[in-house]
Amino acid sequence: MATVLAIETSCDETAAAVVTNRNVLSSIVASQIDLHAQYGGVVPEVASRAHVATVQPVVAQALSEAGVAIADLDAIAVTCAPGLVGALLVGVMAAKTLALVHHLPLIGVHHLEGHIYSGFLTQPDLQPPLLALLVSGGHTSSIHVRAEGDYETVGQTCDDAAGEAFDKVARLLGLGYPGGPAIDRLARSGNPKRFPLPEGKVKHPYNTSFSGLKTAVLRLVQKLAATGDPLPVADIAASFQATVARVLTAKAIACATDLQLPHIVLTGGVAANSELRSRLQAAAAAAGIGVAIPPLKLCTDNAAMIGAAAVAHCERGEISSLDLGVQSRLALEQIESLYPTAASTIVAAP
Ligand code: KG4
Ligand code: ZN
Repeated sequence: MATVLAIETSCDETAAAVVTNRNVLSSIVASQIDLHAQYGGVVPEVASRAHVATVQPVVAQALSEAGVAIADLDAIAVTCAPGLVGALLVGVMAAKTLALVHHLPLIGVHHLEGHIYSGFLTQPDLQPPLLALLVSGGHTSSIHVRAEGDYETVGQTCDDAAGEAFDKVARLLGLGYPGGPAIDRLARSGNPKRFPLPEGKVKHPYNTSFSGLKTAVLRLVQKLAATGDPLPVADIAASFQATVARVLTAKAIACATDLQLPHIVLTGGVAANSELRSRLQAAAAAAGIGVAIPPLKLCTDNAAMIGAAAVAHCERGEISSLDLGVQSRLALEQIESLYPTAASTIVAAP
């Protein structure tokens, strides 16, 4: 049973956690959202600087809340791809330093594999095969999880990620950043059928495209604004949200049905969306497919999910080298490249 300290700094959360198997002993997340809100989105350089200032206290808090000393750890895990390069580098340098100084194995983790493990943390008895639908500000991916460590990306966005579309439409409607929660709240009092909007044309059945939808909302807002009447923001928000939820649900159910996958894990920040959650749950129940939706603190970026993925690698003897690099993009199908050698040959005993 491996115990790992995990660090996550791929975007705008500085996070650290201590995880034993599928058991989270501590999970600390320092969000930078207020820092970036004034710019209407994440500014990479601002993110890196904030990670530098925060990573050490966050790690210290994760260890102290878990009641675990570094000497009790079996490995140090860190997100090394994909993400903002400067932001990833801060976490990777912190993890390498701890691994080197304390003679612990280093385990680089793919950020999306971490999101998949948020499903395993939520339902510890969940077993592959399953479909992971990962919807966040940076990703919209449908991943066929054949087995732990064996993934195939079967669908992705051709343009904007789902969360990005929520944020851009929120900006058009004069709502703050991040836009997803604001649209979700406003849509509750709106009519989702008032404005029919395009679902996005794609060649591949499991891919998505949200840029046409976003442009359609822009045109609609311009047309309505020209009338001089107050903008029906709640109806626009509800119509937009229903369209995104309908598209994502239909694609996930079609994909799980075609590939005969008995479970869907819905994760990423957009998994907080009330319309998407209820539509997917209803459609999956009708199709006889199980759905796992992690609690929000595990859906959004956190280090507990990175730690859970790392425990699995640790137990398979998949260890990274101390010259682990960071990559802004890396296909899930290529995660083997993160584990070149067995642990014993990398870290000499003190
Ligand atoms: O996973 P996450 O915290 O960060 C990354 O992008 O990695 O996801 C953030 C995204 C933002 O685009 C935000 O607008 C969206 O998740 N989001 C939501 C909701 N809560 C957060 N989108 C729709 N409905 C929500 N309730
Ligand atoms: Zn993420």
